[in-house]
Amino acid sequence: MKIKIAVESELNEGDARSFRIVREGGYVGCFLIRFQGVLRAYENRCRHLPISLDYDDARFFDKTGSHLICQTHGALYEPETGACVEGPCQGASLFPIALECRDGSVYVESEGRPESLESH
Ligand code: FES
Repeated sequence: MKIKIAVESELNEGDARSFRIVREGGYVGCFLIRFQGVLRAYENRCRHLPISLDYDDARFFDKTGSHLICQTHGALYEPETGACVEGPCQGASLFPIALECRDGSVYVESEGRPESLESH
């Protein structure tokens, strides 16, 4: 199923937002960004260790706004491609999440509604 994660116009340049999808009966943490005008999404998982890039505060960009950063060890990723260009996982890439933009809203594929898991 497709779930709505955002309204396109709510994300300005350099904004980032966390969301979750359901996969194989569990959550997958993800995040949505707008960079150089384009919306993109990735799984919120560093390629160095399987932990989130942010500290649950939706801060995904580095200070310059030119790269995504793992807050724990500082790996830098290209926002356009998800490729790690500096740090312990250089050469690896974040896992992209396909977006569908329709009627001003942003949708992603999920095996269920995250709220359905949150209530348990
Ligand atoms: S866990 Fe992200 S760079 Fe180490």
